[in-house]
Amino acid sequence: MEFEWGMSAGRFAKAGAGRIPLSVLLSVLQITGFFRGERMASGELKYQSGFGNEFATEAVKGALPAGQSAPQRTKLGLYTEQMSGTAFTAPRAVNRRTWTYRIRPSVTHKPYEPYKGEAKSLLRSGPFTEEPTPPNQMRWDPVPLPKKRTDFVDGLITLGGNGDPAMQAGVAIHIYAANASMEGRFFYNADGEMLIVPQEGSLALATELGVLGVAPGEIAVVPRGVKFKVEVGGGVRGYICENYGMAFRLPELGPIGANGLANARDFLAPVAAFEDVDGKFRIVGKFLGKLWEAEIDHSPLDVVAWHGNYAPYKYDLKNFNCINTVSFDHPDPSIFTVLTAPTAVAGTANVDFVIFPPRWMVAEHTFRPPWFHRNMMNEFMGLVFGQYDAKAEGFVPGGASLHNCMSGHGPDAETWERASEAELKPVYLKDTLAFMFETQLAVRPTKFALETKILQHEYYECWQGLKNNFRAAKK
Ligand code: FE2
Repeated sequence: MEFEWGMSAGRFAKAGAGRIPLSVLLSVLQITGFFRGERMASGELKYQSGFGNEFATEAVKGALPAGQSAPQRTKLGLYTEQMSGTAFTAPRAVNRRTWTYRIRPSVTHKPYEPYKGEAKSLLRSGPFTEEPTPPNQMRWDPVPLPKKRTDFVDGLITLGGNGDPAMQAGVAIHIYAANASMEGRFFYNADGEMLIVPQEGSLALATELGVLGVAPGEIAVVPRGVKFKVEVGGGVRGYICENYGMAFRLPELGPIGANGLANARDFLAPVAAFEDVDGKFRIVGKFLGKLWEAEIDHSPLDVVAWHGNYAPYKYDLKNFNCINTVSFDHPDPSIFTVLTAPTAVAGTANVDFVIFPPRWMVAEHTFRPPWFHRNMMNEFMGLVFGQYDAKAEGFVPGGASLHNCMSGHGPDAETWERASEAELKPVYLKDTLAFMFETQLAVRPTKFALETKILQHEYYECWQGLKNNFRAAKK
């Protein structure tokens, strides 16, 4: 039987949908020579488990120094380089840094110049001032897959965002739609970490610290500054939350206790893997909202060994342990938080990543879909597959919706009618995976998002059928 990358998405993945045979991706990776690591004999990527653990990994035996981080000379002639993801003096529980042992240090590149492809790029960055932000509820159809050759970098399209990377606050929300692997170039983002939510097709994220294979139903996070290239075996599409603020972490569990929601043991970091390749390469960097590029005469994915807790990671969303009511009423969606990126204000996130996965609905004498609401926080939603329980139609896989601060929203008229009359026996919501990037600041759509043909101008109509049912008003 042929192993597929999507297999690990398990019961989320529909047979054959959005998956690429591992052999195809492996052949892509083999062309690049990305195989000098502790892996792949069996055709499977290897990982280390745990959230923010102190990992230690070496692709060549003896490459990791013993007993210290910065020896006078390393055993295999590697350069020592530390990468910090937090201030040196950040509290121990959230301090992130990794020591790398690499063939050449990161500084060995030519000067950066403005990225030549910027004029055509639909990537945008905070501050988001292209257009005034209307308070309307907004919804978009999926961004079509490109027809021309497009790699991950050129396939980035920004729908909106808030804050400013220069202030290390806020987010940008992007769609990626690509059909080609990154060839001869690498990308890094100094403005924020990137939470990647594949919706169609699998990705191989070949990073400085090793390779992650990510399929729909899984997510990956590439930390600020980590260089990587994205390899694909066909058309791919997904969502990205670029988090300018403090890094994503697991939410506190409070009275839930020591277990539940996303468990730390299910997060996977790569093992060391490297390329020792000279040639003409380019690094594309995102820095203070602009793209820059520089020549480099070798692959920067040349880390032979590393130890530390600042690393890319992936998570299979089917491992999420849902907590929900077993009596009545509708808990707030914070109960579905996978990862949170806090602000200095207690309980108020720069951004939360929240999912609505397959689950049992058992509430008694309760309207079970999300009720009508207006919130302080701002909600961008996407759909990986299936149907979202608050919308009968119009919100389709690959599409998106935005409900900003104090803009009313909730079930459409059809869903309201159905759920108000439904027999309240236990129901299993299956084959569904919606998610939300919920953010403190209003999401300001880009010019593209407001002018594109995929904006559903008729979205408001889904609520127009909600009638006056007030019995006292009827004569
Ligand atoms: Fe909402």
